[in-house]
Amino acid sequence: MSLPPPIPLVARNGLGSFYEHGAQLSSWTPAGHTPVIWLSAQAVLEPGTAIRGGVPIIFPWFGAGRSGELTPAHGFARTSTWALVETGTDGEHAVAVLALRGERSEDPQFGHAFSARYEIRLGDTLQLSLSVENTDNQAWSFEEALHTYLRVGDVRRVLVQGLDGCSYLDQADPQGPLVRQQTGDLAFTGETDRIYASSTSIRVIDDSLDRVIVIEKEHSASTVVWNPWIDKAHRMSDFGDDEWPHMLCIEGGNLRDSAVCLEPGQSHTMRYSAHVEALV
Ligand code: BG6
Repeated sequence: MSLPPPIPLVARNGLGSFYEHGAQLSSWTPAGHTPVIWLSAQAVLEPGTAIRGGVPIIFPWFGAGRSGELTPAHGFARTSTWALVETGTDGEHAVAVLALRGERSEDPQFGHAFSARYEIRLGDTLQLSLSVENTDNQAWSFEEALHTYLRVGDVRRVLVQGLDGCSYLDQADPQGPLVRQQTGDLAFTGETDRIYASSTSIRVIDDSLDRVIVIEKEHSASTVVWNPWIDKAHRMSDFGDDEWPHMLCIEGGNLRDSAVCLEPGQSHTMRYSAHVEALV
């Protein structure tokens, strides 16, 4: 069984689409530009399966979680069907609002009641906002990320600016995860899988497409940078062997030591936005 087709979002200055499955943005093209969001040609579009590309919502744990034992990878939000609350426009942007609620008994690995609300606004900018409320009667903590797959011309010619001086957890090191420090701009010469302690804006300088993707975040203490390169791409069944040069994940989140703790009744909102500038 396939997912229903994505729901289109049409604004004066941009087009996009999303699935209710995972509340997953699947495309965004600001007027006058080529697509900014990457979706694999091999993505599996079926209920219960994570979609390879777009903007998966990672919640309430990242990877296998802080314990290293949780499944499914990256939590259940990206494979859950979110409720579509509204679609419309704010004049400038096309808007979609989706919601996901969880009850205590639902998941043995995350036995907490929560309510999540996700807003997508797109036009010439993309604005994503994920709010999580603790509707339980005790405090709990969670990890979250907006796992944005950016489309780039050739990752080997991309530079990422804005991470100079930040510490990061290198998850691709063959000896196991290691903490390192970024010096200067980030260039790509092999598999890259890093969780940076960074809340500031990022510039993705794409020489091949003559553009800069500017990413800004609010209430996000972690930035993940991921490209699987050749071997890992080959090992993933939903990732074409020749697709890896054309994508780069720059994820905004709150991970590991920066997990969010909410008291009963408290909520937390993380925002992630992107726009495109010409490369000068
Ligand atoms: C990244 C992780 O966020 O997501 C990587 O840092 C992981 O380690 C990648 O490989 C893709 O994860 P998944 O579960 O979608 O294959």
